[in-house]
Amino acid sequence: MTQRTLILVKPDGVKRGLAGEVLRRIEAKGYTLAGVELKQATEALLEKHYEEHVGKPFYQPLVEFMLSGPVLAIVAEGERVIEGFRSLAGTTDPTTAAPGTIRGDLGRDFGLKVQQNIVHGSDSVESAEREIALWFPHLAS
Ligand code: CMP
Repeated sequence: MTQRTLILVKPDGVKRGLAGEVLRRIEAKGYTLAGVELKQATEALLEKHYEEHVGKPFYQPLVEFMLSGPVLAIVAEGERVIEGFRSLAGTTDPTTAAPGTIRGDLGRDFGLKVQQNIVHGSDSVESAEREIALWFPHLAS
């Protein structure tokens, strides 16, 4: 089934000059780019984006990290792109993410309170549509 997903190159990825590499991997896998925009997040946007994490111990460090610089927001399209991109991204902890994945190849632990893991990808059809509406209101379905 053709899907859309919301991908973010987080501030660590943008600062390290990895935005192009993430776009390259998305395109090399055969997904289509439907939206790409460099954005500075706001606290209000992040509170909605990370609504399931509000109150967790890493929430405040996560918000500070996500405000620390611009993110590259991407909407990608394709058959089963939601699970496909999460597979490209690798597991949350970059230290143990499998080699071959974005996090496994390019990320590591910097000893901070939050996992700086280069990318975000929506985890379900419902969160993809919710997150696309937040980051790209003009692409909301
Ligand atoms: P992401 O999957 O994009 O969304 C939630 C983010 O919170 C996650 O990436 C990590 O950056 C961060 N995160 C998740 N779990 C932890 C944790 N246990 N400790 C620190 N940061 C975390």
